[in-house]
Amino acid sequence: MNIKHPSDSEVIMTHLVLPNDTNQLGNLLGGKLMHWIDIAAALTAMRHSGRVCVTASVDEIEFSEPIKLGHVVVIRSVITRAFRTSMEIFVETWREDPLNNVRAKASSAYLTFVGIDQYGKPLQAPPVDPVSEEEQHRFEEAAIRREARLKYRETIRARRG
Ligand SMILES: CC(C)(COP(=O)(O)OP(=O)(O)OC[C@H]1O[C@@H](n2cnc3c(N)ncnc32)[C@H](O)[C@@H]1OP(=O)(O)O)[C@@H](O)C(=O)NCCC(=O)NCCS
Repeated sequence: MNIKHPSDSEVIMTHLVLPNDTNQLGNLLGGKLMHWIDIAAALTAMRHSGRVCVTASVDEIEFSEPIKLGHVVVIRSVITRAFRTSMEIFVETWREDPLNNVRAKASSAYLTFVGIDQYGKPLQAPPVDPVSEEEQHRFEEAAIRREARLKYRETIRARRG
């Protein structure tokens, strides 16, 4: 299976926040941003694996800055690591005021995707070859996040019996 670099499947998405995307205060709805994040991450997983991919889980998403009507939302999605069939994707979001070009980080999240066949059976994913120092850090830390995720699921299941 061909090894791939994170840059091979990077996705940059840009949206203008319109009235339909906002709440009564004129702020972008969290659910709308989560939808865009999910789509960007799905595209990265599909580019990396060449498969139809489904969201297996989304780790904590933090919304650090409100995004206002008329702002531009820039979403960057990259793969950090592939395991057997699952792929961890890191998504960062910035809000940008298009009138003065001021940009601020608005959120970040890790998502896990799985490539599946027509019957929903998980398929092996190509390995990731990290190049930059940052990619190397995220690659190594992905194993720690995965272990924590799996352990959390096991603990909750065991508690419920
Ligand atoms: C995700 C899904 C394909 C996993 O299938 P499965 O039959 O449980 O298969 P497995 O147990 O072999 O898991 C496959 C991989 O997914 C990972 N995985 C499964 N559930 C996970 C979760 N909640 N979080 C993170 N990873 C998960 C497993 O660790 C495994 O990874 P690996 O192959 O790299 O070791 C299946 O649960 C599914 O189709 N879920 C619905 C997905 C969906 O519809 N998403 C949109 C929501 S509307």
